[in-house]
Amino acid sequence: MKPLRLVQITDTHLFGEESGDLRGLATLPALRAVLDSAAADIAAADALLVTGDVVQDDPRGYAHFHAALRGLRKPVLCLPGNHDDVPQMRAALRGGPFQVGGWLDIADWRVVMLDSVVAGRAGGRLPAHELEELERTLTGAGRRHALVCLHHHPVPMSSRWLDEVGLENAEEFFEVIDRHRNVRGIVWGHVHQAFDQLRGRVRLLSTPSTCTQFRPGVEQFAVDTRPPGYRILELRADGAIDTEIVWLERFVARSPQPAARSSSAA
Ligand SMILES: [Fe+2]
Repeated sequence: MKPLRLVQITDTHLFGEESGDLRGLATLPALRAVLDSAAADIAAADALLVTGDVVQDDPRGYAHFHAALRGLRKPVLCLPGNHDDVPQMRAALRGGPFQVGGWLDIADWRVVMLDSVVAGRAGGRLPAHELEELERTLTGAGRRHALVCLHHHPVPMSSRWLDEVGLENAEEFFEVIDRHRNVRGIVWGHVHQAFDQLRGRVRLLSTPSTCTQFRPGVEQFAVDTRPPGYRILELRADGAIDTEIVWLERFVARSPQPAARSSSAA
């Protein structure tokens, strides 16, 4: 059986201005570089997965995101992050190929998109109705394997500043997850770094941003020198996940001045 193939991009942090930058890196050129570099992987994928912070507190950025991906003839599965404006994101990304939230069945898998955004806060929380919906969605998946996607990290990242802005009710989230043996993977954005661990039989994965990265394992916020990146996911019919991060090693930033903006991180 052919595996389900996804490409995940995350934390694009776009602005209305094409030159808008996050921590010294212009985010729209970085996204375009990632999409160029990933073109063959995206062409081979069944869907694109986008795990939040599409814009950096600037809803005008959605037009650039829409323009970059509207021609894709495959689903673009999106969920919001703390820098998104959820109503504006839903309005801007209405209609094919975009889907914001909900779930989609492809081959032997159900891909579930959650909204963990709390307006005005960097940290996240899954409200009771979202957890109830997750419960129903996982039950309804039947024999399909499930990949659960959200913006905020549900486990500590060994980085004090980041762990203060993770998913605050992760315990409730895992109570739901643990009732459903069909969950095989949990994928998030927000942390601008790669992470890959197992929790029982569930693969836990985070993915670098398409722009600036954060240095892993540090107490205080620090920018990492790693280039933009994306993740390839191969979800097999037996529930196993093959995955790799692709870093744009030859990427050259167009606006290398450090800390040009004081926008909040994550
Ligand atoms: Fe982010």
